[in-house]
Amino acid sequence: MVKVNEDYLKLRGSYLFSTVGKKEREFLAAHPDRRVIKLSIGDVTQPLVPAIIEAMHKAVGEMADEKTFRGYAPDLGYEFLRNAVMENDYKARGCEIAADEIFISDGAKSDSGNIQEIFSKDCKVAVCDPVYPVYVDTNIMAGRTGVFDETTETWSNVIYMPCIAENNFAPMIPKETPDLIYLCFPNNPTGSTITKAQLQEWVDYANKVGAVIIYDAAYEAYISEEDVPHSIYECEGARTCAIELHSFSKNAGFTGVRLGYTVIPKDIKCGGVMLHSLWARRHGTKYNGAPYIIQRAGEAVYSLEGQAQLKKQVAYYMENAAYILNGLKDAGYSVSGGVNAPYIWLRTPNDMTSWQFFDYLLENANVVGTPGSGFGPSGEHYFRLTAFGNHENTLEAIRRIKEL
Ligand code: MLT
Repeated sequence: MVKVNEDYLKLRGSYLFSTVGKKEREFLAAHPDRRVIKLSIGDVTQPLVPAIIEAMHKAVGEMADEKTFRGYAPDLGYEFLRNAVMENDYKARGCEIAADEIFISDGAKSDSGNIQEIFSKDCKVAVCDPVYPVYVDTNIMAGRTGVFDETTETWSNVIYMPCIAENNFAPMIPKETPDLIYLCFPNNPTGSTITKAQLQEWVDYANKVGAVIIYDAAYEAYISEEDVPHSIYECEGARTCAIELHSFSKNAGFTGVRLGYTVIPKDIKCGGVMLHSLWARRHGTKYNGAPYIIQRAGEAVYSLEGQAQLKKQVAYYMENAAYILNGLKDAGYSVSGGVNAPYIWLRTPNDMTSWQFFDYLLENANVVGTPGSGFGPSGEHYFRLTAFGNHENTLEAIRRIKEL
C-alpha cells in the first residue's frame, strides 16, 4: 500500500502565515462590522511602477506576433536578465559574479525551500532563531530531523542560533558545527542587520569548517545605513562558501508577479562536486524557466526609470517603517528593526505571549500582526509588524495601538 512521506508528519501545525490568515478570517467572520488592518505577512500594497508595466505590455505584444513569440524560457534564465543582475547587483558593487552563476527563478521562497535538495539528508542545519519558517520547514520535510525536544519543540539536526536583544538580534557562531548555515540580512523577522565585518566572520568560519552559507538577501533594497553589506560576495572568500538568494518581491513589488534569482559561484565544491552543476541539473529537470513577460519586467527593474521609480516606492514603505517604529516607541513599546528593513520587531507588553498579544491586538485594535513565537523559540514574547501597508492603514493602525 502506498505510504506518505512521514517527514511531512513531523511538521508542527500549519505554515505560520496560513495560521495567521485563518485566525484573521475567523475574526472577520465573527465580527463583520470591524475594519481589520493587516500588518502581518510581508505582502506589498503599492502597484507595479510604470517602467515595469510598460516592459510587461511590450513583452505581451511580442508574444502576440509569431516573429517575436517565445516558448519555453531557457531554464537558467534569459541572458538579458542575468546580465542586468550581474551588472547592477554585483559588478557595480565590486563583487565578482558571472552572469552564468545567476539562476533566474519564480521567487526566493521556492529557491530558499528547494536549495536544501542538493545537500545530503545527513547535513546539520543552523538557522537564526527567530527565523523565516521556510528554511526550517523544508529541511524537516526533507528528513533533516533527528530527535525531537518536546520543551523547545525543535529537532536536534536543526541548530537554533538565538538572536536576542542582548546581541542586537544577531546570531553567534554555534557550539555545534553545522554543515548548512542559513543567514538572512536585513533580517526577516527582526529587521536587524549585521556589519560587513560581522558577515566576514561568518564567511571565514564557513570556509574553515567546510560549511555552506545560504544567504537570503531578499530585503537588501531597504538598507539605509553604511557598512551594512548588500551582498555576501562583498566579503572575501564568499565565492567558496556562499549561495545567495534574491527576490524581486520586496524591492519591486513582485509578490504576485513572481521572480527571483539564486547565485551559486562555480568555486563552491562539496567533496569535489560543484554545487553549481547540481543546481543547474535540478533546475533543468524540475523547472521550465520564469515566464518571458516576467523576466522582461525584471529587466525593467534595472532600467534608469525603473530604478528611480523603485527608489521612491522603497522610500514610501520606509516612511511607514519609521512611523511604526516611532509611534510604538512613543507608546512605550520596546522596538527595533525598521531602519534597514521593512519589519518592526516589538517586545510584547506585560509579558504576554506572542499569541496572547496577537489576540489582544486583533480584538482591541483590529490590527493583525505576526506572533514572534511562530518564527522560533527566541521569538516568544515578540511580535512583528510590516511596513508594507499603505500610509493610510499604517497611520490608522498605529493610532489604534497607541489608544490601547
Ligand atoms: C513574510 O511575511 O515573512 C514574507 O512575506 C513571507 C514571504 O516572503 O514568503
